[in-house]
Amino acid sequence: MSIETELEFEKMTEIGAIVANCLEYLKSRAKVGISTEELDYLAGKFLSKYGAISAPKSEYNFPGHVCFSHENEVAHGIPSNKKLKKGDLLNIDVSASKDGFYADNGESFVIGNSKNKKASLCKHVKKVLEIALNTARAGVKINRVGFAVEQYAKENRLTVIRDLGGHGVGRSLHEEPSFIGSFGEHRDRRIFTENLVVAIEPFLSNGAHHIKEAADGWTLFHERFYSVQKEHTLMIRKSRPHIFTKPTMNFS
Ligand code: CO
Ligand code: CO
Repeated sequence: MSIETELEFEKMTEIGAIVANCLEYLKSRAKVGISTEELDYLAGKFLSKYGAISAPKSEYNFPGHVCFSHENEVAHGIPSNKKLKKGDLLNIDVSASKDGFYADNGESFVIGNSKNKKASLCKHVKKVLEIALNTARAGVKINRVGFAVEQYAKENRLTVIRDLGGHGVGRSLHEEPSFIGSFGEHRDRRIFTENLVVAIEPFLSNGAHHIKEAADGWTLFHERFYSVQKEHTLMIRKSRPHIFTKPTMNFS
């Protein structure tokens, strides 16, 4: 969507904060010994407390309120009863709607205070999202984001996942522009317009380029490599984008 009114801006601000607060809450509870099924239960209670509806559940009939991608899973992981261990890689991706407005916010991190190679990947994806946010401006080509992410990956001897990417968001979870990849596509002539609402979500990996779909029909994974993502919902401006998925609560 493109924001045209004050009310639309307020509604996006509200759902952006709910989704971001839910992600912060789940991160604070994602400790050694808890399962993603338990985290998903907490997520469901949190969203309903603030009047929000899980987007993957309502839009795609996903078997959970939130996507939890664990270890070699890349995206759309289903909540499971497996207990989290120290050093595990986890991606939590929260998307939800309120009053018909949608926001999408995800992050990869490592359980416990580990300094393993997965934790270093998470640091890289944090940095590359910052670079992507500094690239997305009204009037520039959408593919600038992908070129910037791909260049960062190359400089750091990492790869990008080519099958997943950002997207327009606002009045539904996925809308136009339909794909904002982590790689540069010269033929892509689309341009960022002012007030456009998009989710930007680079995917980095220590070797994977493509992902596979698991037999459960949901989970996307790579059997050999680790992949990480970080995502914000934002509004394009002439200057740095305005981020809607900013937490307003502290859970630590
Ligand atoms: Co997401
Ligand atoms: Co998204």
